[in-house]
Amino acid sequence: MSFDFDTPLQLRGTHCSKYDGIKRSFGVDDPDIIPMWVADMDFRTAPAIRAALQADAERGYFGYYTDPTPVSAAVANWYRDRHGWDVDPGCIRYTHGVVNGFGDVLAAFSAPGDAVIVFSPVYHAFFRQIRAMGREVLESPLVIRDGVFHMDLEALAERLTGREKILTLCSPHNPGGRLWTVEEIKAVVAFCAAHDLILVSDEIHMDLTFPGVRFTPTAVAAPECLNRLVVLTAASKGFNIAGAETGLMLVPDQALMRKLEPVLLDRESSPSRFGMPMIQAAFGESGDWSEAVRAYIAENFRIFEERISRLPGISVMPMEATYLSWVDFSALGMTDAELQQRVLDAKIAANPGTQFGDGGEGHMRFNLALPRATLLEAISRLETAFSDVQ
Ligand SMILES: Cc1ncc(COP(=O)(O)O)c(C=O)c1O
Repeated sequence: MSFDFDTPLQLRGTHCSKYDGIKRSFGVDDPDIIPMWVADMDFRTAPAIRAALQADAERGYFGYYTDPTPVSAAVANWYRDRHGWDVDPGCIRYTHGVVNGFGDVLAAFSAPGDAVIVFSPVYHAFFRQIRAMGREVLESPLVIRDGVFHMDLEALAERLTGREKILTLCSPHNPGGRLWTVEEIKAVVAFCAAHDLILVSDEIHMDLTFPGVRFTPTAVAAPECLNRLVVLTAASKGFNIAGAETGLMLVPDQALMRKLEPVLLDRESSPSRFGMPMIQAAFGESGDWSEAVRAYIAENFRIFEERISRLPGISVMPMEATYLSWVDFSALGMTDAELQQRVLDAKIAANPGTQFGDGGEGHMRFNLALPRATLLEAISRLETAFSDVQ
């Protein structure tokens, strides 16, 4: 089956945060701006997902949801077939989004004043959630070697205060689309064991690996960590259904689950009536769409990297997953404000690197999940905007 990712969808005026949120976040209101910020794709989701929602709409009943057994079966099958993890469907719980699930983990395994480790630059909402819950963020800056991010666990060990309770791994990493190797994951797991930390592995981008690239879940890379592991993930990024606000929490260890369960009962109650059939249709019936969209994104990245890397002083981090490209402008010697203004003046809304914490200075993140023609237009605009730099 073929899917049309080329025809632009008309998303302005549809309460689409990627389009209709530009004015609030960037202070400009220009319908010509190309949105390359919010992590949604500009693509219509898989046919089976749309059909599942249509069936519910026909029934016209939108009360509370219960008995996720078929959804959990679809999730477990997907994990087994795609990612080689034989996960027990009984250890899957549903949250109102991954970030809320992260809040549940913070509530269950830490107290106000405790510290939570993140490897920065990283997805910005982690910071927000940790601070909103009265915990402290301990940033462990990633180092760039061979052009890609690496964790520096030795430097992190030296900065520990003894108040750390949780370590957060973003796998695949956002921004930059790095897939951690089995050795790297094992090293993080050993670090957590040595310092008695709960390991939260945010695997929301797991289904966005480029063709031929395999994602290894933390639980598969390092089964020795199951007694301290909480996996947060979703169908939202891989299938472009983030507005369904439904996350998955996978907790293989029963003792950990017993600590989490009271928090989940308090905070999550019933899963989203809209999200659940969408997840079931995503993992259960939309494998071909997933293959197609990943190939399309990989080609978008290839084109973007080839053209943007040619610009003097600008480099694009190689990536193997996600559609969130991390671009380094630091060699141009501009301030972050100058850089952001120049990109916005080119009529592109992209994320400032500084949103992602330490190491984000001089960088910007570009969402490449756009129809090809829109992407090519964005590339031309960037080429023109930076044509004066040598
Ligand atoms: C790593 C990561 N985690 C979580 C989220 C957000 O998840 P949710 O919308 O389900 O809270 C994102 C969104 O971009 C993300 O990149």
